[in-house]
Amino acid sequence: MVALLAGTLNAVPVSAGSTPADPSDQSLRALSARHGLYFGTAVDMAALDDANDPQYRQLVQSQFNSVTAENVMKWESLEPTRGNYNWGPADKLIEFAKKNNQKVRGHVLVWQNQLPPWLTEGVNNGTISTTELRELLRKHITTVVKRYKGKIWQWDVVNEAASDPWDNPPTIHLKGFWAQHLGAGYIADAFRWARAADPSALLFYNDYNLEAFGDKGASDKTWYVYKMVKQLRQSGVPIDGLGSQGHLGTQYGNYNVFQVKEALDAFSDLGLATAFTEVDVRSQMTPGVQAGDSNEINPRLQASSDNYSVLLQACLANRHCLSYTVWGFADNHSWVPTWFSNPPEGLATLYDESYQPKRAFYAVKGDLIFSGPPYVQPRIPQHPKR
Ligand code: XIL
Repeated sequence: MVALLAGTLNAVPVSAGSTPADPSDQSLRALSARHGLYFGTAVDMAALDDANDPQYRQLVQSQFNSVTAENVMKWESLEPTRGNYNWGPADKLIEFAKKNNQKVRGHVLVWQNQLPPWLTEGVNNGTISTTELRELLRKHITTVVKRYKGKIWQWDVVNEAASDPWDNPPTIHLKGFWAQHLGAGYIADAFRWARAADPSALLFYNDYNLEAFGDKGASDKTWYVYKMVKQLRQSGVPIDGLGSQGHLGTQYGNYNVFQVKEALDAFSDLGLATAFTEVDVRSQMTPGVQAGDSNEINPRLQASSDNYSVLLQACLANRHCLSYTVWGFADNHSWVPTWFSNPPEGLATLYDESYQPKRAFYAVKGDLIFSGPPYVQPRIPQHPKR
């Protein structure tokens, strides 16, 4: 029975005869479906709507079965002036996803970045008190989650709450606007408010640099987040998942697949679903790279490809890893060149600037094709916990 079930779920689409269809012709979404996995991308709504850039939309539709709003569900976009909501672009993405039979990851409810100025300025100049701030957060979460009730698969409820070892102090701690003004309790509150507003969405804590454990000391961010979510679950807070963003760079050592799997397994052993939520692997755009020197470009493309693979293989090997989302899929629509400009970085996505698939694209495709039992089994469906 078990073998039969696994066989069914892993079925390779079969063409007219009895030989399997050529897998190299299939999309990332079709190949992921074999594993019960969702292959997602962040979507830039301006690019999706750009009639002069039809390939962008075409690839979002054809290659991906999950979408995340790159920006339009952030607080500054949804409520640019107090009390006036701008739902248009977010609604559009939800409709687009429905039409294309895609899941939606909701991003993001609570984060210290991309907050509307009326909120941060109001707090800074004392016109918004702490009591009012907490109430505004409750209202924000409730309003947004209710609006999209039943339409969001996974919500990033709290994003990037933990500090980094390069911060001062290097001991990992809760950082940023919300912790400063509301104290640590805002995290549990946020999950409870989100659950009350949509009991069927999976609720995630999402952060970067969680790919692997370090020395499990005071400056090990993965270890800190692991202990934090464990504590949340033990206290009955309705958290269902751990989102590992997966923003990597080829200039760093990064991790091997077993280290990454170990971290995912640790989180799923707590009863959580896992997901890679923002994968990209950037490189430094040295003068040689910019001049088109293949001696400098090729090793970067290879290293980027390897890291995409490491994260995907680890995800495939963890049956609770529900989705693998890239943070943009083409170098002409990647946040990397804008955000990492000194020194300049780029080459971070699966397709180049003219939508030609790069080595990383073929690597993830190969990983989806050439994996299966016994080490890769279908996903275990996850449901909201409590
Ligand atoms: C980034 C977007 O890609 C940019 O367009 C925007 O200007 C800034 O935010 N972690 C997150 C994402 O959780 O929301 C960020 O997205 C990238 C880092």
